[in-house]
Amino acid sequence: MALTIGVDVGGTKIASGVVDGDGRIVARTLRQTPADNPEKVAVTIADSVSELAAGLDVEAVGVGAAGFVDETRSVVRFAPNLAWREEPLREKVSELVGLPVVVENDANAMAWGEYRFGAGRGETHVVCVTVGTGIGGGIVFDGALYRGRWGMGAELGHTQTIPGGVPCGCGNQGCWEKYASGNALLRHARERASADPSSAAHMLGLVDSLDDLRGEHVTAGARHGDPAALEAFDWIAGWLAQGFADLAAILDPGCFIIGGGVSGAADLFVDKVRAGYAERVTGRGHRPLAEIRVAELGPSAGLVGAADLARSR
Ligand code: BGC
Ligand code: NA
Ligand code: ZN
Repeated sequence: MALTIGVDVGGTKIASGVVDGDGRIVARTLRQTPADNPEKVAVTIADSVSELAAGLDVEAVGVGAAGFVDETRSVVRFAPNLAWREEPLREKVSELVGLPVVVENDANAMAWGEYRFGAGRGETHVVCVTVGTGIGGGIVFDGALYRGRWGMGAELGHTQTIPGGVPCGCGNQGCWEKYASGNALLRHARERASADPSSAAHMLGLVDSLDDLRGEHVTAGARHGDPAALEAFDWIAGWLAQGFADLAAILDPGCFIIGGGVSGAADLFVDKVRAGYAERVTGRGHRPLAEIRVAELGPSAGLVGAADLARSR
């Protein structure tokens, strides 16, 4: 069976894997992302691919990238949280590895992976959000990945939640990803902890200073009952619920899937998202409620999806 390689380029790690036609990962590798240097990112991707492809019959490569990818699936035109600007990633990687390459938005790739092999199996209309540094969006519309006219559809993290709100890496203010992402969780926990350290006793015991606080500490704090951490999870749950209600008004999906780094702590907030969604969605009482599910493929969803998209390129 033909093999393809999927690569998921995140802000901190580049995860790559050889994937078969059933979405199974047969080999994998993980590298650090040289985040501020697009040249090195391309080389690191190519190195991982060459290492994995050695001795195998690999047909093509799919790269999931955290940014706005053009309609030819070649160029990362813009990345709110990374250094890519008009980056011809497909050409660079393809030249280095000597294989056909397709570039896809990371959250689109993840949505595709979950739709084909994970929590979205059997659905026709799926909205996937990745909750991490930012918020990524992927839409499967009637069984096809929705890309929009210029490849930049489903940038769900940059819908405006609070006019004039927190400045975003995209240049606007008040985007959804500033209120419902992993970074938003952290910001909220930090603010609350600095205003009232007694509300964050466990979290603060894990770090030397507030600057060192990371998502994992907030999760640990929530599990130990720190009010600051529990409130931070409630806060992103509320904004996720609101966003899903708005998305349902536009897209009416059969299910929502929550992925990305923060979905590893989904048990701390997903029930609140479900309840908030049910309370807010328009037409409630007269429509089926879309299910809100947690991603099944975990951190591999993006690379599995990218590999599958390369196969059907
Ligand atoms: C970017 C998206 C990306 C998402 C998750 C957002 O800030 O605009 O392109 O999918 O972060 O990485
Ligand atoms: Na997207
Ligand atoms: Zn934005």
